[in-house]
Amino acid sequence: MRIDIITVLPELMKSPFEASILRRAIDKGLVEVHFHNLRDYATNNYKTVDDYQFGGGAGMVMMIEPIDKCISALQAERTYDEVIYMTPDGTTLNQGIANTLSLQENMIILCGHYKGVDQRVRDKFVTREISIGDYVLSGGELGAAVLCDAVIRLIPGVLNDETSALTDSFQDNLLAPPVYTRPANYKGLEVPEVLLSGNFARIEAWREEQALKRTQERRPDLLEE
Ligand code: ADE
Repeated sequence: MRIDIITVLPELMKSPFEASILRRAIDKGLVEVHFHNLRDYATNNYKTVDDYQFGGGAGMVMMIEPIDKCISALQAERTYDEVIYMTPDGTTLNQGIANTLSLQENMIILCGHYKGVDQRVRDKFVTREISIGDYVLSGGELGAAVLCDAVIRLIPGVLNDETSALTDSFQDNLLAPPVYTRPANYKGLEVPEVLLSGNFARIEAWREEQALKRTQERRPDLLEE
């Protein structure tokens, strides 16, 4: 997979890709992530990428021309499956969307700032608009980092058995069951006996029951989907 991220703040985005599972996925050659500073596509000497909005009102709007130049340059090199715009009024990210995107080859992610991008960018270039939740960030960068993390860990070969995505919360519309590790008794706090039983059928049944109980208590909405 190749991900091209268009941003006015590449420095804000780089560290998640320099550590942990994302770093390993890049080192293994399973994903390439490229950052494009939108200011490099500005058309004036001041490197301006935003302007006042037509009709008046507070807040700047990101101009279409630098974005067009950047996206068109990328699209001239290869075909993209998705051009994703990060915005609080997009579709809320969930595991299903992450699963779908993990199967794509090439994606562009456009990070908005200020009041967002000129609507014509959304109409002409964007194939999918994603929000990471009902709150407003100061820009799309942190949302894009969240999206990349959720997607990249699902690419086959990125996770090993210990970190397998198959037993994650949400993979089957259920939250994950509680987990424990050694010691079995910590200052009188005990691990459920079934987990020490060695009986895998009983353990599986217990986990399923706990996952269901947790989902009913915390996220009954997931069970209605
Ligand atoms: N940009 C600003 N707020 C955002 C959000 N909640 N999700 C994605 N991008 C954003």
